[in-house]
Amino acid sequence: MDRTQVVLPAEDVRRQEEFTRRLAALLRRPDRQPMAMVDTYGCQQNVADSQRLMGMLRDMGCGFTQDPYGADVIVVNTCAIRENAEKKVFGVVGQLVHAKEKNPDVIICLCGCMAQQETVAAKIKNSYRHVDLVFGPQALWKFPELLYGVCTEHKRAFSIADEHGTIAEGLPVVRESGVKAWVSIMYGCNNFCSYCIVPYVRGRERSREAECVLAEVRELVEAGYKEITLLGQNVNSYGKDLDEPLDFADLLREIDKIPGDYLIRFMTSHPKDAGPKLFETMAECSHVAKQIHLPVQSGSSRVLKAMNRGYTREQYLEKVRLARAAMPDVVLTSDIIIGFPGETEAEAMETVALIEEVRYDALFTFIYSPRPGTPAARLPDPVSREEKQVWFDRLLDAQNRISGELHRSYVGRTLRVLADGESGDPAWPLSSRTAGGRLVHLRGDTSLIGQYVDARITGSNTWALFGEAL
Ligand code: SAH
Ligand code: SF4
Ligand code: F3S
Repeated sequence: MDRTQVVLPAEDVRRQEEFTRRLAALLRRPDRQPMAMVDTYGCQQNVADSQRLMGMLRDMGCGFTQDPYGADVIVVNTCAIRENAEKKVFGVVGQLVHAKEKNPDVIICLCGCMAQQETVAAKIKNSYRHVDLVFGPQALWKFPELLYGVCTEHKRAFSIADEHGTIAEGLPVVRESGVKAWVSIMYGCNNFCSYCIVPYVRGRERSREAECVLAEVRELVEAGYKEITLLGQNVNSYGKDLDEPLDFADLLREIDKIPGDYLIRFMTSHPKDAGPKLFETMAECSHVAKQIHLPVQSGSSRVLKAMNRGYTREQYLEKVRLARAAMPDVVLTSDIIIGFPGETEAEAMETVALIEEVRYDALFTFIYSPRPGTPAARLPDPVSREEKQVWFDRLLDAQNRISGELHRSYVGRTLRVLADGESGDPAWPLSSRTAGGRLVHLRGDTSLIGQYVDARITGSNTWALFGEAL
């Protein structure tokens, strides 16, 4: 698609500021500040989107609360990736009827990936009548206009047109920490893995202009942020739709030139498009963390084909070999789906064998959940949930053992970690991350938060390391 139709004209984005100003007047209370509650589910992309929504709400004069009964505007930013995620949201949204009963003026909004599904929007329309506004991820930038419409016309609004999607630059943002920040470098997905809902709800792949990404990262580094995570459903597709010939590795190299003491991470990197250029660039760029999330999904080439992943088991293992050749200490993590329709026990065990072979530092593991409208949801799925759970538990046992072993090998080493927050545990007051992204519970003063510190690793378990700030 033509870039001029993808990147929104600055006037269109600025027009939203006018709605924001009018809303500030409409929401003003004589006795107190208007309050907003933003409840976020799903992946980092949604977290980043919520930070934009919070920026808009802040500019409308709102403060923030987690109490639905104390809120004037409630926004639930939803995830559709698995059935469980959706059930949880329906539960939460159902409960909000009580907030509406107590305060009929509260405006309840549902947005994010669930909102983009027609079936969900219909269910909300008919059965959740206390929800005032429903809008999909592609309409996020015009939240002020949509909210203004609801406030002034006093009727419910649904903005879920099936859109290719655009790019809106210059939206306001509220970032929750002064240490870590998310930067979306692209939106949408074109991969249509057969089990996945994301391409149906997030529109087509579109990359932000490199200069916009660079300006945002530069600003964050200058403001003292220490860890910046670049986001996209498949960051390796970055640049394919840009006029200038620039790919993700080139972008990393440009970002790396920004001076300062900070680390760049990114997710997610699709194995089919990850290769030597990316790995060598990561190795050569001092600001880029030697960590890669490379979701394999399955260790069976037959299942990978049915998933439409675009690589075989052997091709994937070759990528891992290349990554490790370029970065011997690279921290590797992955996503796995167990119980894809038609997967046999032997195929699931091929996945277990693959993780034994790769020895990932950590895994995100899921039991397959059919998503209406995706090709996989139409496949016969004869294996029972109980049986899938048995395979899943075997996978977890193997990974827990591997993570435990890898974590033990850190004990006695001294590592540079970023103290990124309080842990809540008085024995280990600080939480921190290694350059590879491993969690370290740290003994040390909370004044260290936001700083890189040398930590001596004194203990470990399956999920984390323990250490002392030196
Ligand atoms: N774009 C990323 C993944 C985003 S979704 C990528 O391609 O790696 C995060 C993870 O959720 C996926 O990697 C997959 O493991 C899991 N997932 C996606 N759809 C699923 C489904 N229908 N059932 C179970 N897990 C699913
Ligand atoms: Fe879903 Fe595949 Fe796109 Fe990832 S790459 S978001 S798993 S369709
Ligand atoms: Fe969920 Fe949407 Fe992210 S479906 S995982 S919030 S892209």
